[in-house]
Amino acid sequence: MSETPKFKVTIDNIGIEVPAGTTILNAARMIGGEVAPPTMCYYSKLKDSGGKCRTCLVEVSKGSEKDPRPMPKLVASCRTTVMDGMEVKNITSEKVLDARKGVVEFLLINHPLDCPVCDQAGECDLQNLSYEHGTEGTRYEFKRRTFEKEDIGPYISLHMNRCIMCFRCVFTADQLTETREHGILERGDHAQIGTYLNKALKNDFIGNVIDVCPVGALTDKTFRFKNRVWFTKPVDAHRNCSNPKCCGHVRLWMRGDEVFRVTARKDEWGEVETRPDGTPGWICNECRFEKKQTKDWVIEGPALIPRSSVIAQGHYVGTKKTPVLIDKVIGKEPEHLLNIHDISDVNKPEIELSKIAGPAHSDDFKK
Ligand code: SF4
Ligand code: FES
Repeated sequence: MSETPKFKVTIDNIGIEVPAGTTILNAARMIGGEVAPPTMCYYSKLKDSGGKCRTCLVEVSKGSEKDPRPMPKLVASCRTTVMDGMEVKNITSEKVLDARKGVVEFLLINHPLDCPVCDQAGECDLQNLSYEHGTEGTRYEFKRRTFEKEDIGPYISLHMNRCIMCFRCVFTADQLTETREHGILERGDHAQIGTYLNKALKNDFIGNVIDVCPVGALTDKTFRFKNRVWFTKPVDAHRNCSNPKCCGHVRLWMRGDEVFRVTARKDEWGEVETRPDGTPGWICNECRFEKKQTKDWVIEGPALIPRSSVIAQGHYVGTKKTPVLIDKVIGKEPEHLLNIHDISDVNKPEIELSKIAGPAHSDDFKK
C-alpha cells in the first residue's frame, strides 16, 4: 500500500509536515498552544462536525507551492485541508483577530449573559472565547431569542436559550446511541434543539451530550446548582464497567470525600480524551449518573488540568502548562518591557513558585 504523501505547511511562521488530507486546524493542533485556532463546533471524535460556527477562521496567505495565490477570504480551518507549501496566519493575522471578534459578538447575540448562575461557568468554551476574543459591548439592539423550557428527562437539563447550534449533541446521539430522540427543529432564527414530543433522553450513552456541549445548554441534572466547578477537585478514577462500550475511566469532581459529579476525561482541546487504544473515552450513563460514591471507584490521583483554567486556581499539583510559542511565531525572543528580577529580589528566577507547597512564605526565599 502506498504511503500518504506529506505536505509542508507553515502556520504563524512555524513549519510542520503533515500527511496529505490533514485539516489546517489539525495541523495547527499538532504545533499546539495558541497557534491552534479556537473551535466551538468542530469535535475531532465526531464525524462530520465542524463548519458551523466560524470561530476557527484563518487567513491563507499562500495557497500552495504550485499556486501561491492567497485565498481571497478567511477560511474555516476545521474544514479546509492543507496543501503542500501552504502558509497560514492565525494569531499573526489582524484580519483573523478582527473577524473572530465579530464571530464572538454574533454567537453572543442570543446567548444570555447568565454565567453567574450557569453550571457551565468556569469550563464554558464560549465564556473563554469571549474573554479572549470578545469586545466589551454589543451592537445588537433587539430582544434576545427565548424558548419554552423543555423537560428532557431525569438526567439532563436543556436550557435552549444558551444553545449556539453547534450540532455536536446531535452528532453524539446519532453516532453513539442506538436511537436518537432529539435533533434540530425549525429553521433560521427559530431553529432549536428539542425532542418535539417532550420525550426523555435516556439512552445508555446520552450523558455524553453534556460533555460535548460547548456552552451550558445541556447540563447534568444530578449536579445542577450543587457547586461551582472551581470549588471542586478533579480526580481521575476508574472502575470495571460492565458496559463494553464504556471506557470506565472518568474524572470525579469532588469536595472532601463527596463526589459531586462524574464526567469523561477531557484533553487539552476540551474534547473527550483518546484512550491508549486510540478510541475516544466516552462513558455510560451508569458511570456518570449513578456512581457517586468514592467506594464505586479506584482513585488514581489528581487530574491534569490546564494551568490557565480557572479550575486550576488553588491547585499546586496536577496542572499542565500550555506550550509558549511566541518566540517561534515572531522569530525572536520577545523583548521584555521590564525584567522584574532587575529591580526586585522577591520573585527569584531560581525559585519555582509552583513547586512550593501552599502559598509562598518569606522563608522560602531565604533558602
Ligand atoms: S445543545 Fe449544546 S451541543 Fe447541542 S447544539 Fe446546542 S450548543 Fe451544541
Ligand atoms: S470550529 Fe470550525 S467552523 Fe466551528
